[in-house]
Amino acid sequence: MTEFPAGTRLGTVVSTDSGPNVMEFSFVLEGGPQEIIARRGEFISVVTDEGTVIARVQDLVRTNRYYQHAEAVREYQSRGEPLRSIFPTDRWQYTVAMARVLGLWANGRTVRPYFTVSPGAIVRRAGEETLAAFLKLDLKDGLHLGRLAYQNLEFAPSVDRLLSKHLAILAMSGAGKSYFVSVLLEELLVRTKEQGRLSVVVVDVHGEYTYLKDLTPEEFGLPSGHFEIEHIRGSHFQIPVQMLSAEALGSLVAGMSSIQVRDLRRVVSEIKKIMKKGYTLGDLVEYIRNDTSISKNTRDALAGWLVNLDETRLFGKEAVPSIKNIVRPGKITLIDLSDFISLKKKQIVVSFLTSELLHLRRREKIPPFVLILEEAHQFCPESRHELALPKSRIETIAREGRKFYALLCLISQRPVKLSTTVLSQCSNQAILRCTNPYDLDHIGRSSEGIDRSSLDAITTLEIGEALFVGETVSVPTFVKIRQRKYEPKSTSKNLTDAMIKTDK
Ligand SMILES: Nc1ncnc2c1ncn2[C@@H]1O[C@H](COP(=O)(O)OP(=O)(O)OP(=O)(O)O)[C@@H](O)[C@H]1O
Ligand SMILES: [Mg+2]
Repeated sequence: MTEFPAGTRLGTVVSTDSGPNVMEFSFVLEGGPQEIIARRGEFISVVTDEGTVIARVQDLVRTNRYYQHAEAVREYQSRGEPLRSIFPTDRWQYTVAMARVLGLWANGRTVRPYFTVSPGAIVRRAGEETLAAFLKLDLKDGLHLGRLAYQNLEFAPSVDRLLSKHLAILAMSGAGKSYFVSVLLEELLVRTKEQGRLSVVVVDVHGEYTYLKDLTPEEFGLPSGHFEIEHIRGSHFQIPVQMLSAEALGSLVAGMSSIQVRDLRRVVSEIKKIMKKGYTLGDLVEYIRNDTSISKNTRDALAGWLVNLDETRLFGKEAVPSIKNIVRPGKITLIDLSDFISLKKKQIVVSFLTSELLHLRRREKIPPFVLILEEAHQFCPESRHELALPKSRIETIAREGRKFYALLCLISQRPVKLSTTVLSQCSNQAILRCTNPYDLDHIGRSSEGIDRSSLDAITTLEIGEALFVGETVSVPTFVKIRQRKYEPKSTSKNLTDAMIKTDK
């Protein structure tokens, strides 16, 4: 794109039936007959006395008078003499671009447009500096995630804008969501103390980020100890039973009645006094079996449920890992749940993790963090009928977390299945290629800043291209996500590659 540097003169505003008006104008492109030097989606500018009007090319229409009459064109065609060979058709071809006004950039700030540009005004490709400021990018301290799709400008939003009010990454499978997260993680890792380092916890459902555990600061030319990456297998996870109330235990099994919860509450409070150093589910089961003040039916039912829970092997006396230790500035903790086939086990881990993170952050026992949750629709689904233990906790973080920087980054390939409560709390969305009409509709309804034409464009995005909507940038912006700097060593590029690698 460097062949068309910023500031290039693109054309002249023309007068049409409806414009120029405050929100829209058309301009005729300069350049020879074969040349189109404006692209749909690119940012353009018109300098006026009031400031610089920033607009975006919405569509392009090419016209040629010689080809306006179908009969005439057919006549020459059937004679075997194309019009081109007889008339100077090329000279009569021109292109009109329709542009939508995004704002007025005046005295270093954006003002809502309140006047029209004049017919005859010169349209230029938007200058990089003005555009970066207009979009509210932070080229110095921001996250270098890629480049603008239609402009020679780096896409570097500030951490505050991108993450401080939750982020949802939505797209169909294979569109590049996890790849984008890897790029985001790289950017978070290289931040310095002065720039502010965020603690990151990744719930890695498929073990896709495990490769990062071999990444050292030296690989990025940074001094050792600049960042830390810890990989924790789900099977090593242990939830301390003494931290679970009767209600919490009740929520882990379906169908516990309120009377049974009441009995369990009493048992839990008694065993807490006796076994001060903690207890296992086995201890609790034994205690219940010996407690004859509870009816035999209730005893059997409670013991049965708790034995089932114990079989998940997720519970013990102590918390492993200690949540306080996994959340640290400059640290990424990967919670790898790829060993678990059971959705319920994944949900139990996420449920405990989210409630502990929220609890500790509220009391300022841990620093600000972002919890990255892959397959978010499995943990906070819209449907009430689906089993979803962590749903209410994730909804609480979504609603309240932004006040004390307990932040969410939710990833889903089925936005339509994701809780609307949660989705609407995500002030920022990165939307990659998505073709499912139901998902598109859901995205359109849950995201305020997105207009019809941007929504249509989502279906045409390529892998690794994203539309950022919300507070990240001042207007919805199309971005090409950059390549990652650190690649997993073992991944296969495609099926053929995977077959060759495994056929030893
Ligand atoms: N920005 C990018 N640059 C280069 N290649 C990319 C980019 N984004 C995605 N890809 C390619 O596309 C592949 C699929 O991307 P990714 O695994 O991120 O998809 P996904 O949206 O997470 O899919 P799923 O929903 O199935 O998890 C990647 O392995 C990579 O090869
Ligand atoms: Mg993925």
